[in-house]
Amino acid sequence: MKKLLLIFLPLLIICAGAAFVFAQNNKDEVSNMTLTDKKILVAYFSWGGNTKIIAEKIHVQAGGDIFRIEPVTPYPDDYQTTAYGIAKEQKEKNIHPPIKNTDVSSYDVIFVGTPAWWYTMAPPVMTFLEQNNFEGKTIIPFVTHGGGGSYTIDKDMAKLAKGAKVLSPFVVYEHGNANTDKDITEWLGNLK
Ligand SMILES: Cc1cc2nc3c(=O)[nH]c(=O)nc-3n(C[C@H](O)[C@H](O)[C@H](O)COP(=O)(O)O)c2cc1C
Repeated sequence: MKKLLLIFLPLLIICAGAAFVFAQNNKDEVSNMTLTDKKILVAYFSWGGNTKIIAEKIHVQAGGDIFRIEPVTPYPDDYQTTAYGIAKEQKEKNIHPPIKNTDVSSYDVIFVGTPAWWYTMAPPVMTFLEQNNFEGKTIIPFVTHGGGGSYTIDKDMAKLAKGAKVLSPFVVYEHGNANTDKDITEWLGNLK
């Protein structure tokens, strides 16, 4: 009996240790991401103002810095010319227009906001993602839309922002409603 115990006891200890390590790893996988102690940037593009409103709401709750992604050549104020002229042509020809300088090197977490434009993000946001180095950084997308939802914008962002971890987006119709602040709080509390 003593001999059996001598053989099985070390085995038991090894198994218990392995189970503990497994449980810890699993716990990490499902635990929420915390924004505490992170250098945060809220970067957004907005043509009509909806995404700006949501960006400012996220900034109030998440903290950090905020800036607007601006194309060197601004889009015209006229909807028809912007939507069915310039933006449509940029979409069809995969044009990523030059933007005013941006630098994300000093940030750990970058919220990236865009309106849905022709079933994906707006072209200046594409430029922003591909001209910065996102290696080791976390991108948290947010999308405003006119009824179509966020399409595959988070996946499209991951393709352009090489090396970034891209989390689930906050998605809202136009500029949100009376529940939007509460929805943002909930979303921020459940980031994974
Ligand atoms: C050029 C352009 C393309 C758009 N394409 C879409 C689209 O594909 N799907 C959608 O749901 N809404 C689309 N919309 C509506 C916008 O996504 C929506 O109004 C958004 O909230 C605008 O954000 P902003 O005011 O920050 O520019 C489009 C608007 C514009 C101007």
